[in-house]
Amino acid sequence: MTNSDSDLEIAALLLKDGQLVGMPTETVYGLAADATNAEAVERIFEAKGRPSDNPMIIHISDIDMLKEYTEDIPNVVYKLAEKFWPGPLTMVLPKRGNVPSIVTAGLDTVAVRMPANECARKIIELVGKPLAAPSANISGYPSPTTAQHVIDDMNGKISAVVDDGVCNVGLESTVISFEGYDSIRILRPGYITPEQLKTVVDDVVIDKNAISDEAVVTGEVRSPGMKYKHYSPKAKVVLVREGLEMFKKYVAEYANDADTCCLIFDYDAADFPYKYMTYGNTPEEQAQQIFAKLREADKKGIKNLFVRAPRKEGVGLAVYNRLIRASGYEVVECEQS
Ligand code: TXA
Ligand code: MG
Repeated sequence: MTNSDSDLEIAALLLKDGQLVGMPTETVYGLAADATNAEAVERIFEAKGRPSDNPMIIHISDIDMLKEYTEDIPNVVYKLAEKFWPGPLTMVLPKRGNVPSIVTAGLDTVAVRMPANECARKIIELVGKPLAAPSANISGYPSPTTAQHVIDDMNGKISAVVDDGVCNVGLESTVISFEGYDSIRILRPGYITPEQLKTVVDDVVIDKNAISDEAVVTGEVRSPGMKYKHYSPKAKVVLVREGLEMFKKYVAEYANDADTCCLIFDYDAADFPYKYMTYGNTPEEQAQQIFAKLREADKKGIKNLFVRAPRKEGVGLAVYNRLIRASGYEVVECEQS
C-alpha cells in the first residue's frame, strides 16, 4: 500500500486486528505487530523464522508511551531522547507488566525506539500502542531497505507493506543499555556513533560482541541477536581488510570465476579488472547501500562475494559489524610485505 493518510489508517486497523504489516522506518523496514498482543507477536516469530530467545524492539510515538511501558528510567534516558529521538537509537530499560514476555523473550528488560520515519510514527499513533517490529527479513538474511525487499521475503505471510521508498539510513539502530548513572553500553553499533553518544554520556562502553572479529567471544552475550550468523545473503561473503592494491592481489586467484564478484568502493571502480559492484565511498553511503547490494548479489546469482572492508570508525563500525556477521566471520587480512 502507499504512504497516503488513508492507507496508513488501513495499516493501523490491520495492526489493531492482530495482523502483521511491513512498516517503513528510517533504518530498515520493520515487520510490525501490536506489541501488547502476544498472539500477534508470536506470528512475527513464525513469519521470520526467528529464534524465540531473540527479543524485539518496541516502537513508540511519544515519551508518554516510554513511561507507560518501562520503569526506573534513568535521567540520562531523557537527555539521550532529547538529542537522538525520534531517530535510530534503541534503549534497553526495565519493562512493565503490560509488555508481554514473548516480546522480550522472557527478559525483564525491553528495547524501545522512537523512529524518525513519519509514516511509522503516524501508524503507531493511530494504533495507540507500541509496535513490536524486528527487521522485516527472513531471519538470518540481509535486512530490507525497500518495500520490494519486504515483499521478496514476506509475500503471503503478512497482510500489507506500507511503501515509503528507500530507507535513508539503511542499517539498524544503535542498541544501548544502562550500567548506572551516566554510563551506557553499546550492544549493537548503528547509525548513532559512540562519538555522538559521548556528547551526552561520559562513559560509553562498546560491548566486545559488537566489534569482535571472532564468532565466539568469551563472556555473556548481552544482546541475544548478536550471537547469530546474521545479515547473510545466499552468496558466500568474504570480507577483505586491505588497501585496494592488496585487495586486487588477494582476489586475483578467484575473481575470474563467472559466479564471483567483488563489492568495492565507488572510487575503486576506475580500471578495476574484475567483475564488481560498488557500495558508496563514505560510511554513511555504505550503510545506506550495504543490504541492498548483498541482496542484489543473490539476484545476480553470485556465489562468492569479496567485499572491501569499511573503516571501523563512526558509522563504519556498524557497517563493519554487519559485514563480519554476513561473512560468518570470514575476514581476510594479509601479511603486509
Ligand atoms: O533499526 C532497527 O532497530 C530496526 C527497525 C525496524 O526499527 N529493528 C531491528 O530489530 O533491527 P531486530 O529485531 O532485527 O533487532 C533487535 C536487536 C536484536 O539484536 C536484539 O537481540 C536486541 O535488539 N534486543 C532486543 N531487546 C533486547 C533486550 N531486552 N536486551 C538486549 N538486547 C535486546
Ligand atoms: Mg534484524
